Amino acid sequence: MFINRKVTRRNLLATGAAAAVSGIPTTWAIAQAKPVKVGLMLPYSGTFAQLGENITHAIEMYLAEKGGKLGGREIQIVKLDDESKPELGLQNADRLIKRDNVDVLIGTVHSGVQMAIHKAVTESGTLCIVPNAGAVAVTRNLCAKNVFRTSFSNWQPAYGMGVALGKRGLKKAAWITWDYAAGAESGEGFKQGFESNGGQVVQTLTLKFPETNFQPLLAQVPGLGVDAIGSFFAGGGAINFVKDYAAAGLKVPLVGSGFLTEGVLGPQGAAAEGLETALHYGDGLENSKNTAFRAAFKSKAGREADVYAVQGYDAAQLLGIGLDAVKGKIEDEATLYKAMREAKIDSPRGPISFSKSQEVVQNIYLRKATGGLNKVTGIAVEKLADPGTGCKL
Ligand code: BEZ
Repeated sequence: MFINRKVTRRNLLATGAAAAVSGIPTTWAIAQAKPVKVGLMLPYSGTFAQLGENITHAIEMYLAEKGGKLGGREIQIVKLDDESKPELGLQNADRLIKRDNVDVLIGTVHSGVQMAIHKAVTESGTLCIVPNAGAVAVTRNLCAKNVFRTSFSNWQPAYGMGVALGKRGLKKAAWITWDYAAGAESGEGFKQGFESNGGQVVQTLTLKFPETNFQPLLAQVPGLGVDAIGSFFAGGGAINFVKDYAAAGLKVPLVGSGFLTEGVLGPQGAAAEGLETALHYGDGLENSKNTAFRAAFKSKAGREADVYAVQGYDAAQLLGIGLDAVKGKIEDEATLYKAMREAKIDSPRGPISFSKSQEVVQNIYLRKATGGLNKVTGIAVEKLADPGTGCKL
């Protein structure tokens, strides 16, 4: 039988008060001695597998730094491969929430899967921290007090890229992407940033997620009459897109949300050289947190850290801030959520905070792929908050 977690928590609080009087171990004391169960619902297979792995490495790294405890409570991790399949999202989230009884769900990467998780966590009241997926509804019209995001909204990085191109005086651009929420919402951000700075997006070309037959789209580029192509692709798909774009010998500059070159510059090789992107992280950010983070990540994962690792690390840091505030009593939701909402995090990307809709507020950096690095060349937009449209929190 599924036990309503709200009722269970209230009972625990009541018996906790009695414990103080009687001095006998109660349900409350016993519950506090148990680990906090954290479900990681992430892709460990498919085109986004490396993204899920990097998020996981960084979360484990933070927990190890804290001796396996947050707010004095032992943390137990339960992992589930969501395969980036939206059609399995609800069933997978329910497995973690109802079968494994997780206290916290950290997930996921793919925006379509996130919408399924969102339904499950808003119905059950389970605390959810989003370590990547940028689906805008999560912190706009469907925002919820138990849902926080430490990554970005799809709108943010692409908006920054659009602003930078518009300010440079470019007039016409097209957008190429996968036909799903992340591609479309990034396209919206790009359009808003570009058009509010004098440009115009004249065409959007799409293909189904996670397909990689880009040739029919690339064949149309010379006829578009544009000054730049903006794009959203990530993971394995981004590797192929950048290689195919270069191989097609197109003269129109390619730019994008930074996921286009993030964590994939090695396999993209010379094809990525010189590509400009915008993201909330990049190579060469000089702050002591980032230096220590990158060294620790490399020794754990055996590869360089990227934005996905940063977002995972910050998801764990945010949970740590919340659990410290309630001294491990995760049932004290009001105090827990208040501390998380007001958190000021020393992130490897620089300082971050949270908007009213519990979305991260952060700098969007301009980067240029140079010799295998996404070198930061400037700030496209400082302390950018998602508009949070429709959120009533
Ligand atoms: C998304 O589906 O929201 C997403 C996936 C990979 C990178 C960035 C965003």
